[in-house]
Amino acid sequence: MRSLAAVVSRRDAEETRRTLSVQGLLREDLEVGHEGDQVLFPIVGPPATPLRRGTVEEREFLARPDEGARSYRDLVQVPPEFREELPRAFDVVGDIVLIRLPETLRPHALAVGSALLEFVPGARLVGLDLGVHGGARIRGLERIAGSGPWSTEHRENGLTLHVDLERAYFSPRLAREHALVAEEVRAGERVLDFACGVGPFAAHIVRDARAREVVAVDSNPAAIALARRNLARAGPDGRGRAILDAIETFAPSAGLCERAILNLPHGGVKYLPSVGATVAHGGSLHYYELTDRAHLEPRQEELVNGLESVVPGPWTVADRHVVHPYSPTEDLLGYRFERA
Ligand SMILES: C[S@@+](CC[C@H](N)C(=O)[O-])C[C@H]1O[C@@H](n2cnc3c(N)ncnc32)[C@H](O)[C@@H]1O
Repeated sequence: MRSLAAVVSRRDAEETRRTLSVQGLLREDLEVGHEGDQVLFPIVGPPATPLRRGTVEEREFLARPDEGARSYRDLVQVPPEFREELPRAFDVVGDIVLIRLPETLRPHALAVGSALLEFVPGARLVGLDLGVHGGARIRGLERIAGSGPWSTEHRENGLTLHVDLERAYFSPRLAREHALVAEEVRAGERVLDFACGVGPFAAHIVRDARAREVVAVDSNPAAIALARRNLARAGPDGRGRAILDAIETFAPSAGLCERAILNLPHGGVKYLPSVGATVAHGGSLHYYELTDRAHLEPRQEELVNGLESVVPGPWTVADRHVVHPYSPTEDLLGYRFERA
């Protein structure tokens, strides 16, 4: 049977399978295929963001023999009229599963949680994801199945990260972004990671060991405690430091860097000039923001003008991409600004 396929090398197959599965994109009715050194995953539609490695193409697949549950939705005990509303996508953070449910399904949360606990290999705890809130961007959570704490160890791009969903921000949906930024780092760079959370950007860069120094800053003490553990584990040579401070007090005395990261999509724009001022001529600034799809070009111009009015450039946009859709009208966008 013909289907859309995610085509990746064998090396990237396991990570791709996991990503497609949690996004609800993997077709469970067809067998995974192989072509030489490439693995072909049958998918229900194109991924929201391009594959980090690999392509989306069409291929022939063999139908799978029917052998039980292919999705957690096959295991959920809910009245038939609710079945269509069951979300296909969920997130996995270490041994914790997070799902967003529409109001109508809330009375059936226990049934959904039990099905996820049974379906996701190694799952220990299932929580309702109520979105991130407040200055520290901490996720509202409600336990719906399983037991134990909201802290866990999460594997991402070959790194192990300590996270505590109750006390510090973390999103498994940024895994590709963390790796992409780290891949850009050149030998000898000094990197400043503003609003670092538990330090995933900084940990990737420390692990890759090309930067001469990586300084990660956040105003949430719990996030910094976790970031310190994550940086020490990623690269025990001491090139990564995590500092408890606010951007507004840290940036003016941070010194210059070749690369800065600012991932604070709600309201972080007010720090763009002070973070931009830490970037040396020839350096880069990775910046994230929620943007209305209808206003991409004017918004980009506004950001560049805002930077140039405070930090002499010229500044250019070397890259702009959608990290993931956020709402019916907005995407989370990633920019890479370069200072000439
Ligand atoms: C969206 S999270 C990003 C975390 C991390 N960069 C990542 O990719 O997982 C934003 C972080 O900004 C921190 N934050 C918010 N306002 C801040 C400020 N004024 N100074 C420093 N950190 C701040 C929050 O504590 C939170 O950890």
